[in-house]
Amino acid sequence: MDEPRIELVDRDVIFDLRRSVLRPGLPAQASRYPEEDHPEVFHLAARDPHSGAVIGCATFFPQDLDGHPGWRFRGMATAAEQRGRGIGSAVLARGIAEVADRGGRLVWCYGRTGAGGFYQRHGFSKYGEEFDVPPLGPHFVFVRHIPSAPAPPAAPGS
Ligand SMILES: CC(C)(COP(=O)(O)OP(=O)(O)OC[C@H]1O[C@@H](n2cnc3c(N)ncnc32)[C@H](O)[C@@H]1OP(=O)(O)O)[C@@H](O)C(=O)NCCC(=O)NCCS
Repeated sequence: MDEPRIELVDRDVIFDLRRSVLRPGLPAQASRYPEEDHPEVFHLAARDPHSGAVIGCATFFPQDLDGHPGWRFRGMATAAEQRGRGIGSAVLARGIAEVADRGGRLVWCYGRTGAGGFYQRHGFSKYGEEFDVPPLGPHFVFVRHIPSAPAPPAAPGS
């Protein structure tokens, strides 16, 4: 497949994918996040470049981690038939870039233990002990620092 298009979108654009991948069979309310009311929240959709169908998503918002200013993300999902093609990676990379543009230096999530390999491939580390999120099962906090942009070179003669 050609590269997916990654776009900033309204929550409604990604809601069905989020719900069907992450909370199948549960009421719609279970797929709404209280953090979505944060004024700085942003949602990303990966779209098939040909059909425009939404095939990947994630939602990012400011939230401290243990007192450290950061951005958390939730609802990371790729449509089942599209996995392993780089869509999740593209969504995560764009999300981290958007966070960096907003001045964020730390990004984190509650990640399913089963998805840990995905986060660790993207530079995230486990933070703390494994914990259970009923009915979803075991999770870790995964965290990644975003390096500051390198300082511009000094002007000649300065
Ligand atoms: C986790 C998820 C979003 C990854 O999306 P994706 O589009 O398949 O990811 P990519 O194709 O970009 O995969 C990137 C790499 O991570 C690896 N990877 C993906 N999912 C993985 C997993 N669960 N465990 C270990 N490695 C994984 C891929 O093999 C790939 O490796 P490569 O670069 O060497 O080929 C997707 O599998 C998904 O929606 N899973 C179900 C929902 C879920 O668990 N979401 C996370 C909630 S915390």
